[in-house]
Amino acid sequence: MAQVFSPVSNTIARVVMFCGVVGPIFTLIIGSAITRSPYNTNVGVPIAQPVPFSHEHHAIELGIDCRYCHTGVEKSGNPGMPSTQVCMSCHSQIWTDSPLIKPVRDSYRENKPLVWNRLNWVPRFVYFPHNIHIARGISCNNCHGPIQKMMITYKGKAFWMTFCLNCHRQPQKFLAPRKDVWQLYRDIQRFGYHLAVDGKPGLTPREYALAQGKYWENDGVDLAEGEALKRAYHIHTAQLTNCAICHH
Ligand code: HEC
Ligand code: HEC
Ligand code: HEC
Ligand code: HEC
Ligand code: HEC
Repeated sequence: MAQVFSPVSNTIARVVMFCGVVGPIFTLIIGSAITRSPYNTNVGVPIAQPVPFSHEHHAIELGIDCRYCHTGVEKSGNPGMPSTQVCMSCHSQIWTDSPLIKPVRDSYRENKPLVWNRLNWVPRFVYFPHNIHIARGISCNNCHGPIQKMMITYKGKAFWMTFCLNCHRQPQKFLAPRKDVWQLYRDIQRFGYHLAVDGKPGLTPREYALAQGKYWENDGVDLAEGEALKRAYHIHTAQLTNCAICHH
């Protein structure tokens, strides 16, 4: 049968239909979402801090564990921020006259805490506990981006409700053994940003993606591991999508 429309006009028709139907809905959703959630913008934008603290220097080059500074992250809902005393455990001896550290020394001498500008938060009507996520092997980087290589910290991800639900509906794609949360940073220290190939040591594909801050969704061969962990951790998906666990 002869074609009535050429492929080109077909494409044009599709574009017109897309813009006409999907466009307005899309604009509406995005528009209202932006006005409702100012805290969800500024992803990827570094913000000024009293001291130009570098995660790259401290967590990777010096190899300081996240838990040394965010002591609550595994034990409680709230990771916590390091006190000036924690910084001074080194900076009373290292870089003692660097002007960059001056606010830290002043804070210590005057006994006034440093005030860090907060990057990540969810609204008051949302409950988010860190500890349970860490206990399920969920990497910091899946929610915070490539934090270990940030010279100045920025917000890695927007915490829309769909961001949380995408994982809560199918946690098997994200679960990992608990130790993997910390192993990622040790492996980056050891191997740099190289993928293990041809028997040469390096990062696993999961680690490689997370190290770059890519959202890691496992749908490949080791999905079986995720399914097994889901059973081992006794996770019930129906419970995880219940409105009341996040809103109460
Ligand atoms: C030597 C102390 C130290 C270590 C180690 C450290 N951090 Fe931090 N972290 C800080 C300080 C100070 C800030 C606040 C300043 C900033 O945002 O850069 C911060 C901020 C953050 C933030 C943003 C907080 C906000 O405002 O929302 C995240 C997320 C974070 N750290 C995760 C990590 C992870 C993951 C690791 C391990 C790879 C880690 N940190 C290791 C000191 C540390
Ligand atoms: C375990 C020791 C240790 C701790 C704890 C520590 N630092 Fe450092 N910090 C260092 C060393 C070593 C350097 C020098 C890094 C380099 O240039 O190679 C440094 C460098 C810095 C610099 C210079 C800028 C840069 O990154 O090169 C700043 C600013 C800084 N630290 C702030 C902090 C703050 C704020 C804290 C507390 C939240 C902190 N440090 C905790 C060891 C530490
Ligand atoms: C499942 C997602 C997720 C994971 C995994 C995760 N975080 Fe967070 N993080 C968040 C959310 C959401 C917030 C904002 C929480 C709030 O408003 O109460 C946050 C906030 C923070 C803050 C700021 C706290 C403050 O009081 O200013 C720090 C620091 C932090 N996370 C560190 C970490 C570290 C370190 C890890 C890994 C050991 C980690 N996070 C893993 C989602 C995550
Ligand atoms: C990458 C996966 C992932 C992401 C993203 C994620 N979660 Fe979870 N969440 C989990 C897993 C896994 C559990 C643990 C389920 C279990 O053990 O029963 C959990 C448990 C919870 C719980 C239940 C805690 C309890 O006491 O039972 C709350 C509340 C929660 N998450 C809130 C959130 C919120 C809010 C967000 C978004 C800001 C979020 N989560 C993002 C995987 C995720
Ligand atoms: C896994 C955690 C989680 C679950 C489960 C969840 N929410 Fe949310 N919800 C969030 C987060 C995070 C936000 C804030 C995101 C934002 O402001 O864009 C939110 C925001 C909302 C808002 C405010 C919308 C806005 O943009 O201001 C409503 C209404 C809401 N949720 C209703 C629900 C209902 C109804 C359910 C059950 C069907 C549900 N939520 C389940 C995490 C969750």
